[in-house]
Amino acid sequence: MSALLDPRQRPLRDLRISVIDRCNFRCPYCMPVERFGGPSAFMPKGDWLRPDEIERIARAFVALGVRKLRLTGGEPLLRAELPEIVERLARIEGVEDLALTTNAVLLPKHAEILRRAGLKRLTISLDALDPDVFKRMSGGQGEVSEVFAGIAAAEAAGFARLKFNCVVQRGVNEDDVLSLAEHFRGTPHIVRFIEYMDVGTCNRWSRADVVDSAELLARIGEHWSLMPVGRSQPGEVAERYRYVDGGGEIGFISSVSAPFCGDCTRARVSADGEWFTCLFASRGVALRPLLGADDASLRAAIASRWSARADRYSELRAEREREAAARVEMFRMGG
Ligand code: GTP
Ligand code: 5AD
Ligand code: SF4
Ligand code: SF4
Repeated sequence: MSALLDPRQRPLRDLRISVIDRCNFRCPYCMPVERFGGPSAFMPKGDWLRPDEIERIARAFVALGVRKLRLTGGEPLLRAELPEIVERLARIEGVEDLALTTNAVLLPKHAEILRRAGLKRLTISLDALDPDVFKRMSGGQGEVSEVFAGIAAAEAAGFARLKFNCVVQRGVNEDDVLSLAEHFRGTPHIVRFIEYMDVGTCNRWSRADVVDSAELLARIGEHWSLMPVGRSQPGEVAERYRYVDGGGEIGFISSVSAPFCGDCTRARVSADGEWFTCLFASRGVALRPLLGADDASLRAAIASRWSARADRYSELRAEREREAAARVEMFRMGG
């Protein structure tokens, strides 16, 4: 079968499955506490896809070319059926990678079970080492010591090479970047610094709050020499760098200053089964109603939507930014 491509020749390769929209943190850039104070902000539990439904959907996507699955949330470790979900996904033929993104707090209880269920990789959100900054960035809910207990549990369970995600916000945790880089230097783990994005509607994003990767690279480069390693596969979001002295690897995810829509191969399914073809989409496709039909119809519906996919939000934002910066002054154009 030839690969399913969208009109920009982008194949469908990655599926990110959210298993829950709730979280035990309230990171201000994601789920600010003033908007997500009570349970009513979240979807009813009864709307969550069941593990068998998640498996059915994943199988349809894998049949269409997906090779990489990532479980996300919210905080996926809050979903009681997570080990069953992992087990079901791990046995799908054709899946080359099965990863999970977590804030790590619940890993001491779950890391080993997940490893045994077939989870291959873990990515841990960690925005600061400083306890006060960390607390602020988790919306007052988390302690950095709990994350380190989770990291230890992950290592003990056999997750040898972890990735860490640090969303950098100007004036909030930009000074933690160096300490994070230093902390993980010399370990097999990889820290990635992420440009704060204008995703969703509630984080009051402003371009001035973004610290561009180029600036961070320069700051880190003042302490240790780095060399670019290139992307390990097309569609990868991070630009990778290696410490010249052998201290390991770090990465930068620059979706604001250097968008990577051009080879975006990612699809996302929400916990209640809505499928989105872009992180910034305002509408998705409800997959649950399609589960009543046979597998061929489910695959056909997915293929037809992907074949019409035009998404490139981050690139368009960057183009708008460039155009705005180039606008001619009125006094010059004539009023
Ligand atoms: P691996 O390569 O599998 O390790 O995962 P990854 O690099 O995709 O990492 P992860 O899933 O942890 O994504 C890291 C961060 O990149 C996310 O938390 C987002 O901030 C950003 N990101 C991931 N996918 C996209 C995307 O499709 N568009 C944009 N704009 N940002 C993304
Ligand atoms: N900008 C960038 N990354 C974000 N994430 C959540 N919200 C944002 C945002 N506004 C990412 C972080 C976090 C993961 C769960 O989602 O990488 O680690
Ligand atoms: Fe969002 Fe992750 Fe923070 Fe939870 S831990 S609020 S899902 S960024
Ligand atoms: Fe893909 Fe949309 Fe992100 Fe661009 S903005 S990389 S199209 S998910």
